[in-house]
Amino acid sequence: TSNQMWGGRFAAGPDAIMEAINASIGFDRRLAAQDIAGSRAHAAMLAATGIISDSDAEAMREGLLTVLSEIEEGRFEFSTALEDIHMNVEARLKAIIGDPAGRLHTGRSRNDQVATDFRLWVRDQLDATEAGLKALIGALLGQAEAGADWVMPGFTHLQTAQPVTWGHHMMAYVEMFARDLGRVRDARVRMNECPLGAAALAGTSFPIDREMTAKELGFDRPSANSLDAVSDRDFALEFLGAASICAMHLSRFAEELVIWSSAQFRFVALSDRFSTGSSIMPQKKNPDAAELIRAKIGRIFGANVALMTVMKGLPLAYSKDMQEDKEQVFDAADNLMLALAAMEGMVRDMAPQRAALEAAAGSGFSTATDLADWLVRVLGMPFREAHHVTGSLVAKAEAKGCDLPDLSLEEMQSVHGEIDASVYDVLGVHNSVASRMSYGGTAPEQVRAQIARWKEVLT
Ligand code: ARG
Repeated sequence: TSNQMWGGRFAAGPDAIMEAINASIGFDRRLAAQDIAGSRAHAAMLAATGIISDSDAEAMREGLLTVLSEIEEGRFEFSTALEDIHMNVEARLKAIIGDPAGRLHTGRSRNDQVATDFRLWVRDQLDATEAGLKALIGALLGQAEAGADWVMPGFTHLQTAQPVTWGHHMMAYVEMFARDLGRVRDARVRMNECPLGAAALAGTSFPIDREMTAKELGFDRPSANSLDAVSDRDFALEFLGAASICAMHLSRFAEELVIWSSAQFRFVALSDRFSTGSSIMPQKKNPDAAELIRAKIGRIFGANVALMTVMKGLPLAYSKDMQEDKEQVFDAADNLMLALAAMEGMVRDMAPQRAALEAAAGSGFSTATDLADWLVRVLGMPFREAHHVTGSLVAKAEAKGCDLPDLSLEEMQSVHGEIDASVYDVLGVHNSVASRMSYGGTAPEQVRAQIARWKEVLT
């Protein structure tokens, strides 16, 4: 038997394989609430413009609410033969209200319908991502505030570079996640146009009111070109792009947490709530959440590449290729939300180890730059020469197996005669960080200013 929605010209039904490759109901059922909201707005508009009767529209709007509650309560029977969520809902509406249901699809197509549903879904997801990012940023601000003046090593090439403050390091991630927040907000502003009423591709001859449906669904305006409206998936790509960059940030932080929680570093203790044990090694406490967050970029960026590749080279207007958009976005969205929540929990729970951080901050000749700067400032030495002299002092300490502050004044003077005891002031890690008062620098005062600024912006 041919399809009840479009089978007029068909004598036979589809092959089972055709049905299997064609059906999207297995995943687009997640658009049920959006689909019903879109249909209810469309029905109201059809009545307001006199295209259908008020009583038909009322029956549709009521019936659609019944369908929604059936779906929400798990009482709805999805049918693969009905392909997708749009036809499943409409067929059920027909079973509930009868003939008036057949008028719902006046002046629209599944093409503008799915574009509208998916946009609504992605818009909700952008809002959820914004909330997730804000929660994570809140957790980071808490860590930054608690350890604004705690010292730790700063790295380049993962080699000790200069001492920094714990708060400064946390605030670097706040900057990253705040940019992610900005990307999500930008995307939402750009995507908030309503495709409904573009119909199949060319618009419709019915006197529809696209402003009305756009407004009802919370869009800023109807999309301006019907061909573009049904063909555009930029909003999904922008979400995936923002999600990819955010997942990349998460992976960098996760990597640091994996390193920092190792027995060799011991910079942080992760909570039991966000760690797992080993079934064979009793001593183990593994940072699995951090590792999984580190890995999530794989599928999220994968979704970005997949959808970009689906869209590449597609001629206008709608092609069934575009049905491949949803699973990628659903998977990326689910995993991004999970990663954000897990990271937020880990950050809230983790205990930075102040003593270990401070001990590490002073090792590895981390204040060598401070020493070179002292030679410039106090002895008036050109920086290049100061760099060389300091290098000799580092070599001396290394040969002796000690850190720079452990060299005696005599040993220092054997490298350069004019060095005096005031040099020891700059070799301490606290003085080192406190001196870096340049705007955006690691001095606790600067870090506290950063924290105050973000707190104000974000509340
Ligand atoms: N399930 C389809 C999709 O996700 C809905 C649109 C179908 N349109 C069509 N012309 N067959 O894209």
